[in-house]
Amino acid sequence: MVKPTLQAAAFGKDFHWGVAISAAQNEGAVSEGGRSASIWDVYSRRKGVIKKAAKPMPACDFYHRYRDDLLLVKALGFTAFRFSISWSRILPDGSGKANPAGIVFYQQLIEECHALGLTPFVTLYHWDLPQVLQAEGGWESPLINRWFRHFAKVCAKNFGTVKHWIVLNEPAGFTTLGHLLGIHAPGRRSMDGFLKAVHHAAIAQADGARVLRQYIPDAKIGTSFSCSEIIPYSDAPLDIAAARRIDLFVNRLFVEPLLGKGFPEDDKGIVQKMNRLNKSWKYASQMQFDMDFIGLQNYFPLVVKHASLIPVIQAAEVKPAQRKVPVTAMGWEINADSFQHIIRRFWKYGAIKEIMITENGAAFKDSLQQGRVNDQDRINYYHQYLDALFSAKREGVKLGGYFAWTLMDNFEWAEGYEARFGLVHVDLKTQLRTVKESGFWWRDFLKT
Ligand code: NOJ
Repeated sequence: MVKPTLQAAAFGKDFHWGVAISAAQNEGAVSEGGRSASIWDVYSRRKGVIKKAAKPMPACDFYHRYRDDLLLVKALGFTAFRFSISWSRILPDGSGKANPAGIVFYQQLIEECHALGLTPFVTLYHWDLPQVLQAEGGWESPLINRWFRHFAKVCAKNFGTVKHWIVLNEPAGFTTLGHLLGIHAPGRRSMDGFLKAVHHAAIAQADGARVLRQYIPDAKIGTSFSCSEIIPYSDAPLDIAAARRIDLFVNRLFVEPLLGKGFPEDDKGIVQKMNRLNKSWKYASQMQFDMDFIGLQNYFPLVVKHASLIPVIQAAEVKPAQRKVPVTAMGWEINADSFQHIIRRFWKYGAIKEIMITENGAAFKDSLQQGRVNDQDRINYYHQYLDALFSAKREGVKLGGYFAWTLMDNFEWAEGYEARFGLVHVDLKTQLRTVKESGFWWRDFLKT
């Protein structure tokens, strides 16, 4: 086994080392405790949209097994635990009255974290909108901002012992995959709908933070972004321009309004097209909030070239398979340098106080043999990415924490249960947990 060469202690004693999960991917118990359906429960009933017709039920049954799972987090040596709140569990009607059983569930989960000395990092929204709100237009309706403020308020008032919050998980992810490409819930494929969802999500990320600040003044508040270094395929000016356009959508779309810069505008061509489709790019001040930290989630870089036939964006990815680079089981390029580059790039905005890596990890084709999962690929992955993280720290980036994605194999959205990202293997029939070699590697690393 590759031994950790880096020392966890080199990141400083206040650095948060955590694992991250989300409600829809782990909890299961979708019709227990007064919970109503989420868009993922409903979307997963459609034919052919999720590998092997998998459903987010029972997932890892975290709802019933959270105490044991937290013991595992502790035993692996982590000091922080990131999870999200299921909106449909807290507010089965989407808005209106809170569900006492839902509140109690999260209060107990939070208490258990505190009792074990694990700092809870709570994500308000990790992609599982209540279906009742989807029926009213969901993220494409301007009412979402009112509904979201109410949800944030109920959470803030009931979970005030939590001092670390993440408002939205990867807004570029859920708007693009769910509203433009139609490959995630709610399965919408509409440019107009996508732009509306983007606009409302940009307001929600700041609104949510304002509500949290009001009710929990001493909380550290952030929000998380997916990010990828965008590498032009060649030095040709057309490829460089194509990379700039993709960068706008992948990296800049949500952070810039938050920093008070409004939606990114320097590529006039695209912005004009976007404006024609959506006349409502306004409320710049409502999209701004001075976050305590920004969460970055990185999985791969993107290599991009000019493609005149692709509408609006006129750019296409040059897939890793064509470039013959190392990939994970998701086909995502493994490139730790690009992790360092994208962290540096966000830090260069100059207006971000602190960066937390709120997700990073990899799926591989694991196999359980004689009670062991020998996942050397994942160990090598973490090894390289943590080295890159340390290089970013040495360059002067203020880094507050790192969360591995994810604790255990879980419901990986449209990939169903095929993609295994966990440090802990889950037998889906028996729910038996087996710590993978990478889990032990983390334990050794965190001991240092
Ligand atoms: C980002 C998402 O936040 C998470 O839910 C997902 O499982 C990982 N990426 C891996 O795809």
